[in-house]
Amino acid sequence: TSLSTEANDPRNFVKLMNDQNRKELIIFYGSQTGTGEDYAQRLGKECKKRFNIQPMVADLENYDLGYLDTLPKETIAVFVISTYGEGDPTDSAVNFWELLNKDVPTFSKGCAVDRPLQDLRYLVFGLGNRTYEYFNGAALGVDKQLTQLGGTRIGEVGLGDDDLSLEDDFMQWQDQVWPLLADALVKTTTDTTDDQQQQQHAYKVTMGKEDGSFYYKGELGDTQQSTWSVKRPYPAPVKIHDLTPNSRDQRHCLHVDVDLAGSDISYTTGDHLGIWPTNNEDEVSLVSTLFGWDDAFMDQVISVIPTDSTTKLPFPQPTTLRAALRHYLDIAQLPSRSTIDLLIPHCSDQSLKSFLQNLVDDKNEHKRVVLDQVRNLGQLISFALAAIGHKDASGALKDIPVEVVLECYSRLQPRYYSISSSSSESGTVVSATAVTLKYNPTPDRTVYGVNTNYLWAIHETLSASSLQSDMPKYVVEGPRQQYLIPDATNASQSQAKIPVHIRKSTFRLPSSSSTPIIMVGPGTGVAPFRGFVRERVYQKQVLGENVGATVLFFGCRRSTEDYLYADEWPGLFESLDNSSSRIITAFSRESSEKKVYVQQRLAEHGQEMWDLLANQGAYFYVCGDAKYMAKDVLQTVMDMAKSFGGLGDEEATIFIQDLRKSNRYVEDVWA
Ligand code: 2AM
Repeated sequence: TSLSTEANDPRNFVKLMNDQNRKELIIFYGSQTGTGEDYAQRLGKECKKRFNIQPMVADLENYDLGYLDTLPKETIAVFVISTYGEGDPTDSAVNFWELLNKDVPTFSKGCAVDRPLQDLRYLVFGLGNRTYEYFNGAALGVDKQLTQLGGTRIGEVGLGDDDLSLEDDFMQWQDQVWPLLADALVKTTTDTTDDQQQQQHAYKVTMGKEDGSFYYKGELGDTQQSTWSVKRPYPAPVKIHDLTPNSRDQRHCLHVDVDLAGSDISYTTGDHLGIWPTNNEDEVSLVSTLFGWDDAFMDQVISVIPTDSTTKLPFPQPTTLRAALRHYLDIAQLPSRSTIDLLIPHCSDQSLKSFLQNLVDDKNEHKRVVLDQVRNLGQLISFALAAIGHKDASGALKDIPVEVVLECYSRLQPRYYSISSSSSESGTVVSATAVTLKYNPTPDRTVYGVNTNYLWAIHETLSASSLQSDMPKYVVEGPRQQYLIPDATNASQSQAKIPVHIRKSTFRLPSSSSTPIIMVGPGTGVAPFRGFVRERVYQKQVLGENVGATVLFFGCRRSTEDYLYADEWPGLFESLDNSSSRIITAFSRESSEKKVYVQQRLAEHGQEMWDLLANQGAYFYVCGDAKYMAKDVLQTVMDMAKSFGGLGDEEATIFIQDLRKSNRYVEDVWA
């Protein structure tokens, strides 16, 4: 952006703030799954209430942070920053990150200024996960650079830990921030009365006439757009098969093939596939029952407009409540205390009201009833009604306006899977490998993963087998007409479509095919390695390249049950035609003796693997569970460095750090 266009640059947030008379506070967020966005919105709302100001809440992606040096002295900036992967910022924060980390960051006043952000007063809250190596790396990095550039942080950096206590961390951070903000904010807006404040919802909802042609538009409502992206996922034909037909406990591992041929999307081996889930019908009808929404109401055309012009549309418009509950709102999310608090003013039943108030007031009670039991809002209300002795749940929350309901739920987010196909071999059909998720928070409660069970339902519907009776029910849609909510009864069952997009990753094969690779991927962690091995077979067989040693460590419960792609490996490794290339397995529940895991196998082959790593420049890859497996594998490599490389503790740590720096120790792990 050149200075001459500054005045009409839509990415100039300073101008926007000025135009809209929001001068006190701007809250930026860089969020991957929407949690950061939620927190930013909540913080904005709370500041509005406490300080009677109009804060601006802004997605980092939508603005040019090069204007940060023109933010007035009086304005406070808050950065809510998520970290993902190896201490990286989210996709939406990458531009900001790059700006801050340039040798000479260029802000709008030019680069001659020594401390371009010397007028900036700011706060940072980070969302991270202690399971990962670089806890809150992105938030800490942003803070460091802002200070470096002359900015003044006016309070502690909040370090949220998604593994344990994110909500508490956020609340505690907010508590230390209130007095600081009270001092720092320079108020310029005129006061609104309490009354005006009370009535302001985040959205204004208009219910249209029921006209029988219910449709919803593509993301952002832009039907003209021809490219597909995270903003506008592509409804792709999908085929699914069960890799584990002999599995017990309804634990199914699914191979998902998604056809991108009709789109402009491409991918590279090692990328991630984002799949946009659909909520299950039991949950949809529980919610609609509680709110007293009958079928006619659910199928009316609605339009939802944010009352605040800087708030984004919560989902494509126009739509219906049914479509919103099925496709757009995260109704499986656990309600926070502030979400429950939103319901209370509209709750006409006194005993329900005091039940809910108790959860809002008492953190431990909220943890016991909601978090530990993994109850979503619908399940919480059902539980509450039963606890206070109400037999009939229908319409229990009928006085809650649609606006408030929409505020209670975040946007349903895509789920990401490591791609298990090779882009050279299969450029348009992209595969993912996922296991159906199901667990028991307490013996009498079962929680089902939203997306994997949706995929399972598609598989069951397409293969026309009957659904297991206690599994959640989904409406499996036929060809999702681009903007039509398909009528399930008309759906051609053999061709379901699911909305998808591709997320680029840094999980890549070495640039030279002759470089050896060692891969560790137990369970569905094997997914990207199926892609890698297939890519190497392509390099060998089709391109005639010299392919280096390719070793895969795979672990699962039993060779007869969840040995994924068991029938493919022999042929693939044979095609690699290299005596060191092979799969090495660890079946953990095959013998009654102690469990064997991949890291033990790695240790057993320690001498050979160390030689590949230390002397032959091998790349080392780990995919799967972050919490235990990836840590144990790392420890095993440390041990190898000590026993076979003769390195001391510190040297071994440095050895692995160096591997990481040169992208030769790469993890694609999830918590
Ligand atoms: P288990 O379930 O029998 O304990 C894929 O899930 C495989 O990874 C299973 O065989 C599982 O064994 C195993 N696994 C569980 N914990 C692990 C760990 N800490 N390290 C490596 N593998 C593990």
